[in-house]
Amino acid sequence: MKKNKISFIVGAASLTSKSVVLSKHIQKILQDRGYEVEFFNQATEPLPLLTDEIYKNPVPQITDFIETIDDSSGIIIATPVYHNSFTGLVKNAIDYLNKQNYKPVGILSTDSGNKSMQAADQLLPVVRSLHMTPIPTRVCAVKNDFDDSLQIVNPKLKERISLFCDELTWYMDKLYEDKQ
Ligand SMILES: Cc1cc2nc3c(=O)[nH]c(=O)nc-3n(C[C@H](O)[C@H](O)[C@H](O)COP(=O)(O)O)c2cc1C
Repeated sequence: MKKNKISFIVGAASLTSKSVVLSKHIQKILQDRGYEVEFFNQATEPLPLLTDEIYKNPVPQITDFIETIDDSSGIIIATPVYHNSFTGLVKNAIDYLNKQNYKPVGILSTDSGNKSMQAADQLLPVVRSLHMTPIPTRVCAVKNDFDDSLQIVNPKLKERISLFCDELTWYMDKLYEDKQ
């Protein structure tokens, strides 16, 4: 596992996804702070649907995904809210993973306007079953946090993103040190 490596698992379906925009915004902040970032975007490169057959005979795209996540010291999962929950795309990706040795995970979600915590909350038991440590601050964004060219325009959201990045990297440092 690498000390300063963070992987995004983005489970959006749309090619103009606000979850992707939010994730890319956070990716830039983390890279500017010196972190190595990997990005798995299910809208553009979806992992195959998990079946017994593919699980037993994984293609390189899957082994690369699993190995990259195992090698990361922090994970970010981003999902739109679909029918009061996270997306099937994000669950399909997560279902390939091994237990993660208590590494921290940050959760991002976007929805149409309710600032709903549903997807983020419902991911908690899922990530716990994979022995990930969810950080307290989640970022839940809505349509109006973005302008027409998909720039983040809500200053409060930017503040929360900053706190999210501080928290995730603090947990990464502490948990990594404890494991050495
Ligand atoms: C199948 C589907 C179900 C959705 N269900 C909800 C919902 O339950 N609550 C909500 O606030 N928005 C819902 N939305 C709207 C999306 O959460 C919203 O458009 C979000 O920004 C999409 O994320 P994206 O831009 O990353 O694709 C739904 C959208 C789709 C396509």
